[in-house]
Amino acid sequence: MPYARISGTGFYVPPRVVTNDDLVRIGIDTTHEWVVQRTGIEQRRYADEGVGTSDLALPAARDAIARAGLRPSDLDLIVFATLSPEMAFPGSGVLLQQKLGMCDGDDAKLCGAMDIRNQCSGFLYALKVASSAVKAGEARHVLVVGAETHSAAMDLSTQGRTVSMLFGDGAGAVVVSASEEPGGILGTWLGADGRFAEILCQRVWDIRKRPFIPLDEHGVGQVQPSHMWAQMEGRTVFKHAVEKMCLALMQACWATGTDPKDIDLFCFHQANMRINQYVANTLGLPEDKVLHNIQRYGNTTAATIPILLAEAERDGRLKRGMRVAMVAFGSGFTWGSSLVDW
Ligand code: ACO
Repeated sequence: MPYARISGTGFYVPPRVVTNDDLVRIGIDTTHEWVVQRTGIEQRRYADEGVGTSDLALPAARDAIARAGLRPSDLDLIVFATLSPEMAFPGSGVLLQQKLGMCDGDDAKLCGAMDIRNQCSGFLYALKVASSAVKAGEARHVLVVGAETHSAAMDLSTQGRTVSMLFGDGAGAVVVSASEEPGGILGTWLGADGRFAEILCQRVWDIRKRPFIPLDEHGVGQVQPSHMWAQMEGRTVFKHAVEKMCLALMQACWATGTDPKDIDLFCFHQANMRINQYVANTLGLPEDKVLHNIQRYGNTTAATIPILLAEAERDGRLKRGMRVAMVAFGSGFTWGSSLVDW
């Protein structure tokens, strides 16, 4: 059975920086101090109108593929994790395949392309699919992407401030490749509890209704503001996030016989600095081993972990031979952990 290694990483964030003070300037009743104290977020990036999630993913994917020493035509599968695809269907995976030039010409490769809809845990769910395909010998190189365009779907008014201050746009990607060398992705452990599906959700439509979006007298679809924007019970999310993230990390350690002290780097989903500090304090993890970039990007949902990995590789914090733990929690509720020998 081949091993599954992460052979390349990439990331991209749009150039437009939106600070907490910028949110105040557009009319949201908040302060920089309030947001930093509760979340750790100082700024985030917003894509311009006209830019879609697969557009953000494209440079991240190209970067990861090049760093793996590959061409797009070497890929056997694309797994794209996002909660903000360009349209209801098809998913962003096929759009990215086309933008990578894989549908015709020298780099043509009509490999499978799928979307994963597991929100903040989406990258780890996608990594599970990729590493399983590689370990089963069914794919040699799989592109795994986490990308989000949140800025198009946020209530940028005081009413929506609890949610909209948190999120930003961005993309991260890794290539998972078959290898004879022991190590790589040691395992990925996933969990979900559907009882909490509506604690953090964005409804937009209701497929049980006929039609699924109500029409006005002119036949134009009408979406209630409360259905357009994500709804969240923040305190419930916080409470379950810390509990499940601790358990998910311990599950990875038990399954592999790893002492948490032997983990070199912790890449936690960037939902809220306080959640990650709470998890680190509870488990006694040394501060200098826990990566954060939420200050600069906010919560980019499926993109947070691959962006962290790519940045850490570039700034030299993530080196070959290190044991890396990834942990995520999010809407669903869903969660997951993965241990990787880099
Ligand atoms: N600026 C100023 N005041 C605000 C803001 C803001 N941006 N947002 C909310 N408030 C106000 C509320 O209106 C409320 O005022 P009131 O008491 O007059 O009604 C007060 O602050 C307290 O609001 P709460 O929602 O109870 O604030 P809380 O202390 O719970 O903090 C927060 C909100 C930061 C979202 C917190 O619940 C949290 O961290 N939850 C975790 C959720 C999370 O991180 N989600 C990320 C997405 S999910 C994921 O990725 C796992």
